[in-house]
Amino acid sequence: MRKIIIAGNWKMNKTPAEARALAATIAANDKIGCEVVICTPFVDLFAAKEAIAGSKVRLGAQNVHWAESGAFTGEISASMLKEVGVEYVIVGHSERRQYFGETDETVNARAKAALAKGLKVILCVGESLEQRQSGVTEQVITQQIKADLADLTVGNMKNVVIAYEPVWAIGTGLTATPEQAQEVCKLIRDLLSGIFGAETAAETTIQYGGSMNAGNAAQLLSMPDIDGGLIGGASLKPDDFAAIIAAGSAK
Ligand code: PGA
Repeated sequence: MRKIIIAGNWKMNKTPAEARALAATIAANDKIGCEVVICTPFVDLFAAKEAIAGSKVRLGAQNVHWAESGAFTGEISASMLKEVGVEYVIVGHSERRQYFGETDETVNARAKAALAKGLKVILCVGESLEQRQSGVTEQVITQQIKADLADLTVGNMKNVVIAYEPVWAIGTGLTATPEQAQEVCKLIRDLLSGIFGAETAAETTIQYGGSMNAGNAAQLLSMPDIDGGLIGGASLKPDDFAAIIAAGSAK
């Protein structure tokens, strides 16, 4: 019923030549049985697009600005991404929130702009270690989901994927247990149901992200409300990423 989506978030890794090679290796996988996306740095998009042409792998970017064009040095618009052949864009990654002043308001503006141009959005939410330890995970996720999805319609939600990424698990080697991840992904689905209705909630892909790897992917993906993964480090290792894709394809 829901699309299983395995997405690689390459972060600030790979030059265009390296990206071409890695994308070609990922695209050569003939056992892909789920949606697979690679979210490359902006300057790698062209090379990656050429390398995955004709394969099942989709192209994604890691951020998008809310304005159509203008004096926003260093930013990239949704139209620019569209023209390059980008299908998905990550919005609200915790590294953007943590290091680049991203707020729920800007995340919401970026998501709306991307959707208006026909891009699919991978919206990231997640609590910090401090927030988890002080028992406010539910409040944090509730606030993020409500604010980040403000003004979106049921129609928009067909093009939105939610990635639950506990900040304490990102790049740390610490993974949420399948039960911890399931608990929050279920909370997110319940929140979506409250905002957009049960049907939309049931159809929305909810990914887990945070040190997902070849060894833990199958277990995480076996949980009922985990419909895929957003993978950082392991998405740069072709064999590991292929193993995660295999786990997604088996779900
Ligand atoms: P990680 O990153 O898999 O390296 O923990 C996940 C992410 O930040 O999307």
